[in-house]
Amino acid sequence: MWRELAVIGREDSTGGYRRHAWTPADADCRDWFRAQALARGLDHRVDRNGNQWAWLGDPAEGDAVVTGSHLDSVPDGGAFDGPLGVVSAFAALDQLRDRQARFTRPVGLVNFGDEEGARFGLACVGSRLAAGRLGREQAFALRDQDGIALPTAMERAGYDPEAIGADPELLGRIGAFVELHIEQGRALALPESGGARVGLASAIWPHGRWRFDFRGEANHAGTTRLADRRDPMLSYAETVLAARREAELAGAVATFGKIAVEPNGVNAIPSLVRGWLDSRAADQRTLDTVVTGIQEAAEQYATRHGIRLDVVRESFTPVVEFGDALREELARILGDRGEPVPVLGTGAGHDAGILSESVPTAMLFVRNPTGVSHSPAEWAEEDDCLAGVAALADVLEGLACA
Ligand code: GLV
Ligand code: MN
Ligand code: MN
Ligand code: MN
Repeated sequence: MWRELAVIGREDSTGGYRRHAWTPADADCRDWFRAQALARGLDHRVDRNGNQWAWLGDPAEGDAVVTGSHLDSVPDGGAFDGPLGVVSAFAALDQLRDRQARFTRPVGLVNFGDEEGARFGLACVGSRLAAGRLGREQAFALRDQDGIALPTAMERAGYDPEAIGADPELLGRIGAFVELHIEQGRALALPESGGARVGLASAIWPHGRWRFDFRGEANHAGTTRLADRRDPMLSYAETVLAARREAELAGAVATFGKIAVEPNGVNAIPSLVRGWLDSRAADQRTLDTVVTGIQEAAEQYATRHGIRLDVVRESFTPVVEFGDALREELARILGDRGEPVPVLGTGAGHDAGILSESVPTAMLFVRNPTGVSHSPAEWAEEDDCLAGVAALADVLEGLACA
């Protein structure tokens, strides 16, 4: 199962994955999900927002237990971020069937659409739409780098975008959602975690994305005296340094990982440098302080170089505190296995965070020896992945079986 998926959307030159929403690679991932569902006799459905579901039992009965994650990736992403949760969901269900578990609640497996937001700039589009946290109009306005609108991309991939929007009926049928995910840090690999292969999530840091547009004047790189230039790249570069400084001061993180330059010529001073800031902190106040600090610094640099600066907040996700009740239940189920189950916070965003406002939600993290993620070097040991599957099977059994 893992091997079939592992070849989809893989870039030979980097070893990373490019499975962006509503592209052919994404379609191949979806075909894989559908085939896995049908091979197990599960009822395969695609919801109005393009999220994919595989049901055991009838979700209309309600109080369903759902597990899964996403199959899309960041540019040159790793093999595990997302797919580990989906593959583990199928594998855990297989284990339960092998144990001849008696299901008392419907069980759903899910592949949420466009979790990473790599193509349209907004993360967790599928779950946000379902939860009513992304309006139809906003969704219709999302465009990719080539100017293709989200509904057009969905339509080209064979989905009808007319239906997109909040789906309270679907979410109302879910009694618990558990997302298994590779840890995107090294907390479980540290000695303090006592060798635990699997942990539980406590919270997701508040995080957001801001677009900084520095506009100057394009001119000849050979003939324009330095004193005569209005070069937005300078203000941008200084802003990157300021972001690092502000984040360090506050104990937060701030990243400029994507830029667009116009006209993007080696021998031309840029007219526009557009940089996207991703910033996250343990609490809202700290995050506000960091982003305000970066913005104020950018404004000063821009003024000094005669540059116009516009800053737009493109997305924001407030802090998520996963509910105690479900986490404690999972801790009890997993604690019975005699291994420590550390509880960790994370700076990474997840569909589980979006759903947690509407549905009791918990997350399981699988140990990541290096902590590297959003990179082709992302890795988890096979034994740890199997421990994750076993933990998820126990959780599903504890929640959904007699
Ligand atoms: C998604 O994985 C994010 O946290 O950016
Ligand atoms: Mn990710
Ligand atoms: Mn992920
Ligand atoms: Mn994510």
